[in-house]
Amino acid sequence: MHKPELLESLLRKLPMGACMVDVEYRIVFWNDFFANRLECNEEEVLGKSILDLFPEQAKFLKKKINSVFILKNESFSYWEQRPHIFNFLSSRPVTGEETLMFQNMEILPLKDSNQEVQYACITIQDVTAQASYYNDLSHAAEELEQEHKAQAELIEKLEDAKSQLVHSEKMASIGQLAAGVAHEINSPIGFVYSNIQTLQKYIDSLIKITEFSSKLIDKTGQDIHVKLKSDFYERQEFDYIREDIVDLVDESLDGAKRVKAIVESLKEFSHSDATEWGNSSLVDGIESTLKIVNSQFQHKVVLHKDYEADIPPLYCMGMQLNQVFMNLLVNAGHAVGDSGSIFIKVYSEGEFQKVSIRDTGSGIKASHLSKIFDPFFTTKAVGSGTGLGLSLSYNIVKNHGGDITVTSEEGVGTEFIVSLPIENNSPAKED
Ligand SMILES: Nc1ncnc2c1ncn2[C@@H]1O[C@H](COP(=O)(O)OP(=O)(O)OP(=O)(O)O)[C@@H](O)[C@H]1O
Ligand SMILES: [Mg+2]
Repeated sequence: MHKPELLESLLRKLPMGACMVDVEYRIVFWNDFFANRLECNEEEVLGKSILDLFPEQAKFLKKKINSVFILKNESFSYWEQRPHIFNFLSSRPVTGEETLMFQNMEILPLKDSNQEVQYACITIQDVTAQASYYNDLSHAAEELEQEHKAQAELIEKLEDAKSQLVHSEKMASIGQLAAGVAHEINSPIGFVYSNIQTLQKYIDSLIKITEFSSKLIDKTGQDIHVKLKSDFYERQEFDYIREDIVDLVDESLDGAKRVKAIVESLKEFSHSDATEWGNSSLVDGIESTLKIVNSQFQHKVVLHKDYEADIPPLYCMGMQLNQVFMNLLVNAGHAVGDSGSIFIKVYSEGEFQKVSIRDTGSGIKASHLSKIFDPFFTTKAVGSGTGLGLSLSYNIVKNHGGDITVTSEEGVGTEFIVSLPIENNSPAKED
């Protein structure tokens, strides 16, 4: 065999597609790669337009071939952009199944001695193995990425759960402590308070008796007795005692009253798991709470109400939720001071009924935000706040399987949102 024949025979047997076309897209050469896959011999296709043979790819092939004839340069198409130019089955099934062949195409200009492009040679490379390896790799990377994401989410959830657990444990132990302390203090402070009240009356009487005796002695006109009396009074600092004793008793009564109030709050706090479940409307609850707290708001505080129409009653512990609304409203009233607005909104969102209480008051310092739900945290003056309001509210809302969140900006205002699940798994409901 002569060299050109040898070369042609080699070209026919190459494990890659080779097909030559002229400027009219007519096939002038067609190797076995094409012939075997299309099951038609070279004789059957010679002279036919490649565009007619592959009508689906005609537009693309025409553009590519034209560019070779016009620009006199190679033209490429890679599997990443266009995986299957020709609908050939893969000869290298990687996954055990025959899949379509992934192809790289390169069209080469074949020039004559005048450097004019006479033919365009379309070569096709089977890159199925490479492509599926690459695809497997990117699937694996994607899966890995998703696993990473899932792990990160899980870690975040765990962190959340941990801090919630720490918080609820703290609340539970405070609750127990509060219950114990409240129980112990309740009766002594009860009798201290009522004894002081009685003492106040006794002291009033004693002062009256002393004053009466003093006047009587003065009336006798006997200088010696009058002198003895005033010396005695002076030695005993009677005038001072008479004035001071009233203040002392008043202050003690006031102090005992405050202790009683704290004990009451502690008792409420520790009993916040009482289970009077029933169907009640949040809007009605808020309205009745407003009747109680309204008097605390200054005249210049404007109330804005926005209640979703026809919001159904919620299975909840109505009285306890009123306690929550009361705490939030009183806090809002305090924050607003003597001018500003309080916005109350009741609405449903997904699986929850929500109550938002927003004020245009002082706002909460960023550094305080993480502490306001802690028992006894207060920024109010001694005697005007126990710091139990929000921790009590937190407890109540958690007992409903709900949540209470806060957003606040100093000098702008604060919003508390109480979210209560519509379907909750309270033990009472399961009965
Ligand atoms: N709407 C609000 N605007 C600004 N600060 C607030 C608001 N609500 C709560 N706070 C801050 O959170 C603190 C804790 O509130 P919490 O209701 O627990 O206790 P308190 O109001 O101080 O006392 P108590 O409610 O027992 O009378 C308050 O002292 C206040 O600093
Ligand atoms: Mg409060």
